[in-house]
Amino acid sequence: MGSAGEYRFFDLTHSSADMHEEVIAGLTHAPKFIAPKYFYDERGSALFEAITRQPEYYLTRIEMGLFEDCLPEVRNLVGEGGCLVEYGSGSSRKIRRLLEMLRPIAHLPLDISRRHLERTAKKLHEDYPQLCVYPVCVDITEAFELPDVVAGQRKLGFFPGSSIGNMEPEHIPSFLRQAAKALGAGGRFLIGVDRKKNVEVLEAAYNDSAGLTAEFNLNILSHLNARLSADFDPGAFRHLAAYNRCAGSVQMHLESLADQSLHIDGHEIQLHRGEAIHTENSYKYDYAEFVALAERGGFRVESSWSDDDAYFTIFLLRAP
Ligand code: TRP
Repeated sequence: MGSAGEYRFFDLTHSSADMHEEVIAGLTHAPKFIAPKYFYDERGSALFEAITRQPEYYLTRIEMGLFEDCLPEVRNLVGEGGCLVEYGSGSSRKIRRLLEMLRPIAHLPLDISRRHLERTAKKLHEDYPQLCVYPVCVDITEAFELPDVVAGQRKLGFFPGSSIGNMEPEHIPSFLRQAAKALGAGGRFLIGVDRKKNVEVLEAAYNDSAGLTAEFNLNILSHLNARLSADFDPGAFRHLAAYNRCAGSVQMHLESLADQSLHIDGHEIQLHRGEAIHTENSYKYDYAEFVALAERGGFRVESSWSDDDAYFTIFLLRAP
């Protein structure tokens, strides 16, 4: 038996007053939008996990396959020990594979969904008792500092699932500069990136025949009802996901099926039939496009792994 790993929870989130303001600002904007971080209440996180197992959703399957080549090489480069920093605590399947291959001393899952984060982090701590687990509840798109407990430790960032594709491309360099600072000099960042490809393949991944992506998209409304006492009727909207070739992204919307008004916190919001609320973009990148963004973010590409169809690439970036 090795020594027991520590467990500590860090909360860097703001008050719910900010949340009211932010949501109302989005719904009174033209065109209307809801920030995608509101997808991830407990039900949203569970639905997303189910999406990753759908046959049309190739991303997770291919990324997990690439791990088999990638992780042994990453281990050779970084060695065992150090600290793993997971941007967005998503599928625990991926993180378990990493923990077993890379054997870090500490694991820091960063996530906006407090309950999901707490549950998955506690379970990891039970299953890997030697590992220090330091969950940090935070919006990873904002500037923040990692807790002092891991100061001075060698760090590997991990940002799988092409979640980086959910950021606007012009925000990526500054996000990466932040990450480079958090990961420290010589720090590495392992990032999964979905590639540009055939439109039918892309659109099918966001319109699975079991309807889970539709349910996931609509769940954002139920989440706002619960958190902000809003009165959305999810049945009065439908899920839309289409690839915009100019933008290079799959764009997710919720389309209003009727003229309707809804209420949040004393505000009345009008929607007409056919009006769409934007919820998320999923940008797709050519290899060279992503390399250019990484370099603008102050990283260089140390290595990369792609499948034979070039559907997905895992990049290992290194900070100077
Ligand atoms: N990072 C995932 C992606 O872009 C997130 C995602 C998958 C998603 N399916 C979705 C976001 C449906 C909104 C709606 O693939």
